[in-house]
Amino acid sequence: MKRYFIICLVLFFALNVFAQRPINKLVVRADSAEQKISKFIYGHFAEHLGRCIYGGIWVGRNSKIPNIRGYRKDVLTALKAIHVPVIRWPGGCFADTYHWKEGIGPYSKRPRIVNTTWGGVVEDNSFGTHEFLEFCELLGAEPYISVNVGSGTVREASEWVEYVNSTYDIPMVKLRHKNGRLKPWNVKFWGIGNETWGCGGIMSADYYANVLSRYSFFMKNYGETKLYKIASSGLPEDFNWTEIIMKKWKNTDTWLQDYMSGYSLHYYTVIDWNKKGSAINFTEKEWFIILQKALYLDELIKKHSEIMDRYDPEKRIGLVVDEWGTWYDVEPGVNPAFLYQQNSLRDAIVAAISLNIFNNHCDRVKMANLAQLVNVLQSVIITKDEQIVLTPTYYVFKMFSVHQDATLLPTKLECEEYSYGEEKIKSLNVSASRDKDGKIHISIVNLDPNNVKELECKILGSNVEKGSAEIITAERMNAFNDFGKTEEVNIKPFEKFKLEDDRLIVSLPPKSIVMFELE
Ligand code: AHR
Repeated sequence: MKRYFIICLVLFFALNVFAQRPINKLVVRADSAEQKISKFIYGHFAEHLGRCIYGGIWVGRNSKIPNIRGYRKDVLTALKAIHVPVIRWPGGCFADTYHWKEGIGPYSKRPRIVNTTWGGVVEDNSFGTHEFLEFCELLGAEPYISVNVGSGTVREASEWVEYVNSTYDIPMVKLRHKNGRLKPWNVKFWGIGNETWGCGGIMSADYYANVLSRYSFFMKNYGETKLYKIASSGLPEDFNWTEIIMKKWKNTDTWLQDYMSGYSLHYYTVIDWNKKGSAINFTEKEWFIILQKALYLDELIKKHSEIMDRYDPEKRIGLVVDEWGTWYDVEPGVNPAFLYQQNSLRDAIVAAISLNIFNNHCDRVKMANLAQLVNVLQSVIITKDEQIVLTPTYYVFKMFSVHQDATLLPTKLECEEYSYGEEKIKSLNVSASRDKDGKIHISIVNLDPNNVKELECKILGSNVEKGSAEIITAERMNAFNDFGKTEEVNIKPFEKFKLEDDRLIVSLPPKSIVMFELE
């Protein structure tokens, strides 16, 4: 009897120890840091679409909504807190109908046009080049202007650059002076066409390759500002398009290769383009599919990078993911062309996965722009008249801002799978970096909405002595922040971890995003 009792006791302890030993393992190589994570990976996109510009950013000087020279004060304050590094404007598809000269000079003289791309609403051109560039200045963000290749001209594009960057005594500069701006803005980032396979002109890759070099060649550098010109890609999986654009670049004489510095990729996380589903009323199946599709971005970047590597092994051309994010059905009762959707914990998880993926590919990915800044698709902010809501995605950008311009630390992750029906995905997702003060940041996502994940993390090449952590999670997988209500999703302190020598032992709650800071 006694012997039986002792065996049971030993078995109990053995099982208990085994059960607690993490089967999820992460190695962070602090001894092998080489690549810088460009801060521009944390960029945004603002299009003349729905209530992104009008109502979201710009309310005009005479609005009752508190504003600084026409820009919403609350939006400016919120965006400053996440250190927005770059904003792409004016589209998107809108860019290919936009004639920039209609958006400068006295408001009363700016023509009212119809936004034929997004709902046929009146565009009064009150937010134009000066307003966009001043907005970027207020935020300390770099502007990224997308020129009109679809219905514009080479001359329009080259004069836009003259207008904003030149200091010569030429008509465009005189015009800028007349409109009240003496100093040039020195805009570096320029997009040459948007989705030229579709709303940007339904072009073939061969045709566009020549349009690109023609436009680009006549957009000149002024002063110290060397332009970074970004080419349009094909559909996300059009690898042949990438092949054609890269091949032409490679075959161009070296002294002319400046016509392209970046190559864009657009990728939206969507369940099905014909049945997108609701942003907040969804099942676990829809949670799973969205996360599975978010993870696909990694494969997509790898495949485009492999092609780019063949033509550009030195990685001179950056991959610029200048539109990404979730896309659901528009909220009930809203103009379907306004693409307004709520934002839940699921979107926060997608944002964290995507940013981890960009970080891990920072040797090639040099910029990314979430679609879109305010009130459109996966926005960091939504507004209703004078009210503002910071979305779960906002808090991910806030939490992850520590990775901006830090050095990537390579990671190796072995983890359990999260399965739904017959399908399986990795339950954890991670990236790590070291900032200029030597602090290590590790961002870990638990995609599984039902199970805690025990993780053992080894940090090679660094004597970690102390650490702290923050978490984004919620009780419900479709938790969201709403107008006039207490926030359901934001950043909270996290303590379910311990540091032992060079190991970090963590208990990651289901459906959570955790950021560690280690010193
Ligand atoms: O972000 C909305 C639209 O999606 C953009 O205007 C276009 O480029 C893309 O198809």
